[in-house]
Amino acid sequence: LNHVWLDVDPGHDDATAIMMACQLENTKLLGVSSVHGNASADCTAKNTARCLHAFAAPSDVLVYPGACKPLLRPTKHDPEIHGEDGLGGVVGLPSADSPEVQARFARKVDGSVIHAIEGMATAIKDTWHNGTGHQVSIVSSGPMTNIALFISVYPNLLEAVEQFVFMGGGVGVGNRSAVAEFNIMCDPEAAQIVLDAPVKTVMIPINVTHTAIVTPAIHSRLRSPHLPLLDDVLAHPSTNLRSTLSSVISFFAGTYKSTFGFDQGPPLHDALTITYVSHPELFEARRFRVDVELHGKHTAGETVIDVWNYRMCDDSWGSNGKNCVVAQSVQVCPNVRPASLL
Ligand code: BDR
Ligand code: CA
Repeated sequence: LNHVWLDVDPGHDDATAIMMACQLENTKLLGVSSVHGNASADCTAKNTARCLHAFAAPSDVLVYPGACKPLLRPTKHDPEIHGEDGLGGVVGLPSADSPEVQARFARKVDGSVIHAIEGMATAIKDTWHNGTGHQVSIVSSGPMTNIALFISVYPNLLEAVEQFVFMGGGVGVGNRSAVAEFNIMCDPEAAQIVLDAPVKTVMIPINVTHTAIVTPAIHSRLRSPHLPLLDDVLAHPSTNLRSTLSSVISFFAGTYKSTFGFDQGPPLHDALTITYVSHPELFEARRFRVDVELHGKHTAGETVIDVWNYRMCDDSWGSNGKNCVVAQSVQVCPNVRPASLL
């Protein structure tokens, strides 16, 4: 069983990651923290709670709202891709004010909301039990501000972290600048802190997520059985997961077409993070030194991957080593043509 903490900025593809984390059989979701990113921190926290309820997460899986701005830079959102509230056009989610959504916020006895990194720390401590329990995979599908804060505030808990798995970055290419991908570009300093932590990190770059395209043929199969992997997720009897997921895909397909010209369907970037944790055998990956460009005039937020080991790094995780396993490919349905990056 994989013990997982999820950190998200929903976000259409974040919603698919939440759905999978709630329903995959080999995954125990401990809690979900939200972060600024695709929309404001207020919207992403509410969206996370709405998703948990709609996707039938166990009632003890709660939302822990996190950072509302990057460590150093001005805040950026992406309404062009995800709508003003982060989940534009999605049907079947309860309203943020409904009692069942409000009940998803983790609260202290005095009624105040528990912060992301506090929730993360408690869940990790409880799961690790001073080394007699399990390590936790921390999975990130947004800017990594919360994760960087957790690393800085709770360094003594890092031995209980199995891995940080994040969707972000690109090998030689970006999507929100020529070379920077959105999640890393929003908070590059936070990403560097995560890469320098003495813990295994796994990067799922856009080179790989752009091969996981929801084509019209796959989209139409969401309404019928026999879809590998997602069948388990979508089988839940008490919910309308298929129609909600279909509306997620439709909106995302529209904005990916109008913004990036994708005519085959949208890439399900964030779903690949949780897929990596639950089914690593579907990926090819190699370990490299990865850093983030923090100063470049044209390249701030670029992930710099030292494929030739120019830095002569050792095999430790963290600031001197080959610090990151970079996904190179993932098995997708036959007949899916990857989106071109050039
Ligand atoms: C990433 O940015 C957001 O648009 C998505 O949710 C994903 O996490 C892709 O670059
Ligand atoms: Ca995201």
